Amino acid sequence: MYDNDYVPGRNDPCWCGSGKKYKKCHARMDEQLDRLATAGEEVMPRGLLKTAEDIKGIKRSAAINVGVLDYVAENIRAGVTTAQIDQWIHDYTVDHGGIPADLNYEGYPKSVCTSINDVVCHGIPSDDDVLRDGDIVNIDCSTILDGYFSDSSRMFCIGEVSDERRRLVEVTRESVQAGLAAVKPWAHLGDMSHAVQSCVEAASFNVVREFGGHGIGLEFHEDPFVGFVGEPGEGPVLVPGMCFTIEPMVNAGAPQITMNDPNGWTVRTADGSDSAQWEVQLVVTEDGYELLSW
Ligand code: MF3
Ligand code: CO
Repeated sequence: MYDNDYVPGRNDPCWCGSGKKYKKCHARMDEQLDRLATAGEEVMPRGLLKTAEDIKGIKRSAAINVGVLDYVAENIRAGVTTAQIDQWIHDYTVDHGGIPADLNYEGYPKSVCTSINDVVCHGIPSDDDVLRDGDIVNIDCSTILDGYFSDSSRMFCIGEVSDERRRLVEVTRESVQAGLAAVKPWAHLGDMSHAVQSCVEAASFNVVREFGGHGIGLEFHEDPFVGFVGEPGEGPVLVPGMCFTIEPMVNAGAPQITMNDPNGWTVRTADGSDSAQWEVQLVVTEDGYELLSW
């Protein structure tokens, strides 16, 4: 097999844990993957494909992840500090039996990323950052439950936001929807990337290149890297069971970023323009995709 991983006998139980015989379960799909790999296509190893059991676990994790963001949506307003939002997220997650995935991840000090206006991503919650009328802020929240990871983020407009900021937030959300519409089994990841990029650039905004989405499920960040610029037909083949995020960072101005904050984390637009991001997590299914968190 193309990935050098285990292949059961045709009458043995399938590797996916369904309990069905291999020949009645994943055998046909595995043959297809092998054919594509032999034909020179980029095919992810089967170890990254999520089993039905994995999906159940990820959904339980995602239920907390979505609940956290709903809680934020109900309570966020001008005058709140990002440190307070961090506390909400920490407490809600722990009260529901989860662990905030960001906390201590590669030394990250808080439970969520709060990225205001020109902050592209990885804004660190602080007592000093008070949300003001007119701000746009991304709340990027990741959750672990029983070893399963979920990850999503939303934009919030605080009070009266300028038309241009609102347009940036809306176009970024539409670009995620355009990307989702391109997610189908046996399509390519580049089809999705191209759809996002086209939507963003048609609105005269720009996609950040350096950061992207990722596979997710049993780890926080799994292969593949999910970029949001590209051409149709490029990149890995989309296969039922692949689980990944779509999370374009979109700058109102130039796509360049700076990473020189002394805290070692916070990423800003190079030209000081605003930046927005929405993140969803999905699994590729037999006939399209299923959203897991958003
Ligand atoms: N939540 C981010 C993502 O979408 C990762 C944040 S890592 C952290 O992949 F350490 F900054 F929290
Ligand atoms: Co993510």
